[in-house]
Amino acid sequence: MNNFNFCRPTDFYFGRGEENQTGEICKKHGATKVLIHYGGKSAIKSGLLSRVQESLDDAGISYVTLGGVLPNPRAELVYEGIKICREQQVDLVLAVGGGSVIDSAKAIALGVPYEGDFWDFFMGIRKPERALKVGCVLTIAAAGSEGSTSCVINREINGVVKKRGCGNQLNVCTFSILNPELTFTLPPFQTACGACDIMCHVFERYFTNTRGVKVTDELCEGVLRTMVQMLPRVMRDPCDYDARANIMWASTLAHNNLLGADREQDWASHHIEHELSALYDCAHGAGLAVVTPAWMTYVYKHDVMRFAQFAVNVMGCQMDYAYPENTALAGIAALRQLWGNAGLPLNFEELGAKREDIPVLADRIGDDDHTEGKFVVLRKPDVAAILTLAADYQRP
Ligand code: NZQ
Ligand code: ZN
Repeated sequence: MNNFNFCRPTDFYFGRGEENQTGEICKKHGATKVLIHYGGKSAIKSGLLSRVQESLDDAGISYVTLGGVLPNPRAELVYEGIKICREQQVDLVLAVGGGSVIDSAKAIALGVPYEGDFWDFFMGIRKPERALKVGCVLTIAAAGSEGSTSCVINREINGVVKKRGCGNQLNVCTFSILNPELTFTLPPFQTACGACDIMCHVFERYFTNTRGVKVTDELCEGVLRTMVQMLPRVMRDPCDYDARANIMWASTLAHNNLLGADREQDWASHHIEHELSALYDCAHGAGLAVVTPAWMTYVYKHDVMRFAQFAVNVMGCQMDYAYPENTALAGIAALRQLWGNAGLPLNFEELGAKREDIPVLADRIGDDDHTEGKFVVLRKPDVAAILTLAADYQRP
């Protein structure tokens, strides 16, 4: 087990109706003026936004609003949010939405006290030293931004959309309000994308070269098994509270790094996917459903027994003691089946990606000496090979 520091001071409120306390929670955390940040129509249509505003009114907290965050959030709106927060002397950014809204809120919070361009933090030119507080009312279980140190933003530079992340302790939400009922209105496709992302956040940690991490291996497998059981349940019944609740808490546990602080983590599949969602503006979870099994197929020989363990302990496959490789491959096939049954794309065509873009996608991931991943260290030709596997995959 590796040495680690783990500090996640987020104040969580979980369960039915918890969003009605938003105003009091903001007050508890010292907010005096709030920017309510939200996405497209879903939070308005469901009445959530009005209820949050009412709760702030009741608590005597003034606010301004900024909607319009797109999935794969854009830098332009971040600049607008920074300007509003400065003019209005906002001290807390309240995200009402999913990962895109929370990340846009986090980026605004980083940008407000910084004299330079907030994008510096995403290009690795500067490290943030201060930020406004961010709170969230989560509406989709997926990205785990409600408990993570990450923030991911898209920005167009010279006609090319770049998707870049900034990892920093300052990105940890001050509070997160998680009511599983708020996810009942999710379209099935978004539910499935979210579930895929949650599982992939565990995979990035579970497939590791670090030894002696039994306790977190067991936790990883527990979260993954829960997802394997709950995903078909919510696909059948979107208002299954317990299934939604387990998925929502899994979203947080999968990505607040409880499961990974003690080990080397991979993240190649995520970085490859970010190039897909930058180029095609596809849902992050959909891109992962195409990339991750292809990554698994490319790297499983590096540690066949780990993939066999995943197949048996998570996907419920039988162990083939004579040929563990068969078990490893059966686990990957079972994962694809789970995701395919939930309506996720499994190859380039289903995602709307183009085979001829593979060189561009591989090229955008970094310079020629750039490497991706830790479980197996990948170079550009490896990335292109994984994308080719993803393009070529055909359902049985
Ligand atoms: O804009 P609205 O109308 O709200 O619609 C959204 C959006 O179209 C809809 N939606 C959300 N909650 C809903 C709902 N529709 C009906 N009912 C509800 N309750 O769902 C769509 C997707 O929302 P989005 O916020 O984009 O989803 P997600 O949470 O998957 O976030 C994806 C973004 O997070 C990044 C991804 O790259 C992507 O940009 N990630 C952030 C991470 C982090 N900060 O830790 C880690 C992840 O690996 C990921 O990279
Ligand atoms: Zn993700």
